[in-house]
Amino acid sequence: MQTIVGAAVRGSHLRRFAHASLRSAFRVAERVKDAVETSPRVRRFFYEFRNRHAFSDLWQHDRMLADRLRVDTYSRAIARHVKEGDVVVDLGTGTGILALLAAKNRPRKVYAIDHSNLIAGARRVAEANGITGIEFHKVHSRNFNPPEKVDVILHEQLGEAVFDEDMVENVADLRARVLKPGGRVLPGVIEMFVEPVEMLENHRIPFLWEQTIEGIRFDALRELAGDARRGYRRRFVNPLQWDHLLCHPQPVVRVDLATAKPSDLPNRIARSRIVQHAGQLDGFVVFFRASFDDEICLDDSTTNTSWSIPMLRVESQRYEAGDRIAFELRSNNLANVDTWEWSCRGVGKNSERASLAGYA
Ligand SMILES: C[S@@+](CC[C@H](N)C(=O)[O-])C[C@H]1O[C@@H](n2cnc3c(N)ncnc32)[C@H](O)[C@@H]1O
Repeated sequence: MQTIVGAAVRGSHLRRFAHASLRSAFRVAERVKDAVETSPRVRRFFYEFRNRHAFSDLWQHDRMLADRLRVDTYSRAIARHVKEGDVVVDLGTGTGILALLAAKNRPRKVYAIDHSNLIAGARRVAEANGITGIEFHKVHSRNFNPPEKVDVILHEQLGEAVFDEDMVENVADLRARVLKPGGRVLPGVIEMFVEPVEMLENHRIPFLWEQTIEGIRFDALRELAGDARRGYRRRFVNPLQWDHLLCHPQPVVRVDLATAKPSDLPNRIARSRIVQHAGQLDGFVVFFRASFDDEICLDDSTTNTSWSIPMLRVESQRYEAGDRIAFELRSNNLANVDTWEWSCRGVGKNSERASLAGYA
């Protein structure tokens, strides 16, 4: 009996030891990856590898095609802005949807390019629908050299953290090499928002150490915060899960893809905002508005879309109308969400509130 109990105890020690070792190994691997990826070239290599493989899979594309707001907005914009006789390049064609919609407007030619394997599927869709005039190329945009300049660059490179699909870098490179003077980039203006939010009660997930269940407090676990895995302070939400935004949304970054370069993306965003709608600050939601012109734009905060919205969590705090929230976001590359660090400081009408910090 003693031997069995002894073996069980040793077994559980071993399991705990194995788990702890595994956790440490993961942490070390993350640190090595962080260190290695401080080199932009190395980061780009890993990012492009992941992107190519992620989008070779149908998983992402089901969701994107089923997103009516996304597809209908692009469809209206393409109907308005792609003209008969145009030469168009669809940067990152995926299933081919934007190129196929563009082909309806009788352009002279559409180049549909993608670095993922799905390009063969996109070609098959065009053939099965009897749609001609599209040339499909499996190529990264950086290596795409068409024999002529184009009138329109069409793209959907909008990431969950807005710029994290290297949109600015990819579009700027293609624009410089292949767009005719006076050509159009669709969508052209991208705005990024970082807004304080109160979540609906049943979608609120406070940090562990903020929680009390039937009088049992978990604040003893606050010291484990430093051990939490990367991403612990970020959660993905959708707009149907939030109660309201505390301030009137204002963009913190605005880029015009007709001229933007990657170095235009800031490494530090600091804003101080007056609370318009009292509520409990649960975090800051990051979303975009992508404009095709003054009327047609896509905003992923208006309903549940195919984009998940990152929420940068902070410790919950109630704010009254008229209070001020000072917020800062720092990163060594805004396109790499893993490098984001944020903090916020609330200033009540009469008093200074606690300082709240977080990191990716
Ligand atoms: C968000 S999906 C959009 C797909 C399609 N345009 C749509 O609207 O459904 C982005 C696509 O761009 C491709 N992609 C990303 N960066 C690229 C690049 N630099 N060159 C070529 N393809 C790229 C990905 O493989 C993926 O298929």
